[in-house]
Amino acid sequence: MIDLHTHILPGIDDGSQDVETSVRMMEMMIEQSVDTIAATPHYYCLDATPEEHRAKAEAAFARFSDAWKERHPEAEKLPEIRIGSEIYLVNSLDSVEKPELLKISGTDLILFELPFSGYHGWMPRLADLVAGRAGARPVFAHVDRYLEMYGRRMTDELEALPHAAFQFNSDSFESRDALKYMYSLIKRGYTVFWASDCHGAHRRAPDLGNTLPGLRRKIEKKFSPSVFEAIEARQYRLMNK
Ligand SMILES: [Fe+2]
Repeated sequence: MIDLHTHILPGIDDGSQDVETSVRMMEMMIEQSVDTIAATPHYYCLDATPEEHRAKAEAAFARFSDAWKERHPEAEKLPEIRIGSEIYLVNSLDSVEKPELLKISGTDLILFELPFSGYHGWMPRLADLVAGRAGARPVFAHVDRYLEMYGRRMTDELEALPHAAFQFNSDSFESRDALKYMYSLIKRGYTVFWASDCHGAHRRAPDLGNTLPGLRRKIEKKFSPSVFEAIEARQYRLMNK
């Protein structure tokens, strides 16, 4: 199971605030059988360069790894953690250098977050431009959250991008509107990802392993078991390009 969007790295954004929380989050993910985790701290291009952001994320990862080894000295197979970013789409993003450092490591995926303050046509175009410069496929974080706000215009314009992928948060798996949209993407062959977008061990905790089985049953009922398997297989392929 792949959790494509998490804030598990300690002390880097509004996610995990310390290594203890990160260790607890990881323990929960292991209990839930997550085997691949993208650590995607928020990236604002006005605050840091991709190089600075990446260095900060790697330092946070090193602090987390040390704490994990101390807490779990026995050789335990850890889920794979890939460092990436959740990139906030602002105008000035077009001038960042080395956007490839913002990709989810070991993949050609780059995760963008649309603002909640309003939707504009330049947003998908900018995501496409930055993804192109990074040699990556744009993934749109928690699209479920924007459906009501931005509606058809947004979905049409995101879908028009070549290779766009769509990430749904686990708290939308019971939402009729989110499921309706997810099913329509699946039917039309788009790539979808699932994620917890977890921020802590208590509030907004990792829950993908608890919620995905229910979604799986719904997808299998709506389509067929092979459709769910094909979606997962594609996700793994894209994680291991
Ligand atoms: Fe997030």
